[in-house]
Amino acid sequence: MTILDRDVVIIGAGPSGLTAAYELRKAGKSVAVLEARDRVGGRTWSQNMDGATIEIGGQWISPDQTGLYSLIEELGIETFERYKEGASVYLADDGTRSVYTGDDFPVAESTVAEMNKLIKEMDRLTAQVDPDAPWAHPQAAELDMISFHHWLRTISGDEVACNNVGLFIAGGMLTKPAHTFSALQALLMSSSAGSFSNLVDEDFILDRRMVGTMQGVSIAVAERLGEDVFLNNPVLKLDWSEDGVTAYGTDVTVHAKKVIIAVPPNLYSRISYNPPLPRRQHVTHQHQSMGLVIKVHAVYETPFWREEGLSGTCFGPSAIVQELYDNTYHEETTGTLVGFISDLQADAMFLLPEAERKDAILASMAKFLGAKALEPSVFYLSDFGAEEWTRGAYATSYDLGGLFRFGPDQNKNVGPIYFSSSDLAGEGYQHVDGAVRMGRRTAVRINAAIEGTEPAANYDGVKSLFGTLAASGN
Ligand code: FDA
Repeated sequence: MTILDRDVVIIGAGPSGLTAAYELRKAGKSVAVLEARDRVGGRTWSQNMDGATIEIGGQWISPDQTGLYSLIEELGIETFERYKEGASVYLADDGTRSVYTGDDFPVAESTVAEMNKLIKEMDRLTAQVDPDAPWAHPQAAELDMISFHHWLRTISGDEVACNNVGLFIAGGMLTKPAHTFSALQALLMSSSAGSFSNLVDEDFILDRRMVGTMQGVSIAVAERLGEDVFLNNPVLKLDWSEDGVTAYGTDVTVHAKKVIIAVPPNLYSRISYNPPLPRRQHVTHQHQSMGLVIKVHAVYETPFWREEGLSGTCFGPSAIVQELYDNTYHEETTGTLVGFISDLQADAMFLLPEAERKDAILASMAKFLGAKALEPSVFYLSDFGAEEWTRGAYATSYDLGGLFRFGPDQNKNVGPIYFSSSDLAGEGYQHVDGAVRMGRRTAVRINAAIEGTEPAANYDGVKSLFGTLAASGN
């Protein structure tokens, strides 16, 4: 057993925990990061499969994600643009396939008008919501009382319009059915991206990718932390008092002044706290749960859809694969598609035997892009729901009424215990950008607490306050 004394122990080597550790090291504090898995990056993870680069977890960055942009600039990591040229494909509920260009789905004109009405209303309310405090909106209580599904139907009676607009946040982001989360939760999601229009614009929200993959960002930070990152060390027990903490990993024990719990909120209760956390945290943590989405990866000899003038972007609100994109990594000659199967459709897929599941998914993709989609050389399903140290995807959100009731306390520390996660972020919520911003904000708060100074007021985590650190590990 290795026993260490540090200023701060960080539990979890995902982007949030690593960013916090990195910032604290830059501020002159000693740190140790204990990670359960045998790798860093958490919900960002990549592998080479038969010569193709596959991003199993988080991968895209949008122009507003300036916290992550400033970190990669510091690390010397570049980005490349997602392939976006050509027409998109839309599959209507009755299975009719349409090829289209422009922003509007090829649906009845009246439905387009209703969709635009819904988007306008979401934009109007989103502009009034502070992503760091959605519960402070004057109508927050009532917006948190109604499911997003039902709220949409108070604005429009057009079912197709409601389902299409609902998809952007339900299947597309929170990966839960729209009846399981509130209109306020949906507004947090859109305000985290600046506007609802940004969120529904795939060319904005899925704009660019990292050269070297998104997991490469965490790997680069971990390299700078050197031997202070300990893999294969799940922390299942934490002793704490106002004087400090002791975190117990498998073969590393760390005594520290403060701890950052940088794991997703649904996993807070995996740790046994001695003494127990206060009632407020016990209850709050039970109302934050993961969504469920299967990320489908299929690699082909060539990006055949491009030859047909298609971008690879496809939408089918009632299809098994609801969204499909060209996900070819830059400079690769093979063609990669990525698809998403969310919530209830994901449940249905996991009930099928493996071979039938593969056939059903490829058949769904072929409805968009034709028979060539049926024969990929690589077929891989990301399954974060089965991963012990995540248990769902993409991130956690509150159940109905939870955001207004518990949100105001979610980022408060309990004595020396601080929480940091993309799932607690305002801007960049549920994204790597939010993880980075939260990591920086938590580091600034802890640094001030240790130094006995006031933390910078209203600090948004967009830029590091502590300069840079060389890649040598020290
Ligand atoms: P994260 O979950 O990444 O890291 C937490 C770490 O804590 C993990 O390494 C875990 O193993 C560890 N841990 C858990 N319990 C522990 C314990 N008891 N002891 C020690 N360690 C413990 N985002 C984005 O910006 N663009 C995108 O395109 C996508 N797409 C996407 C697809 C898929 C399939 C997923 C699952 C997620 C995304 N995301 C995304 C979301 C993004 O990946 C996510 O927001 C960040 O990885 C969250 O970073 P955190 O550090 O907060 O948690």
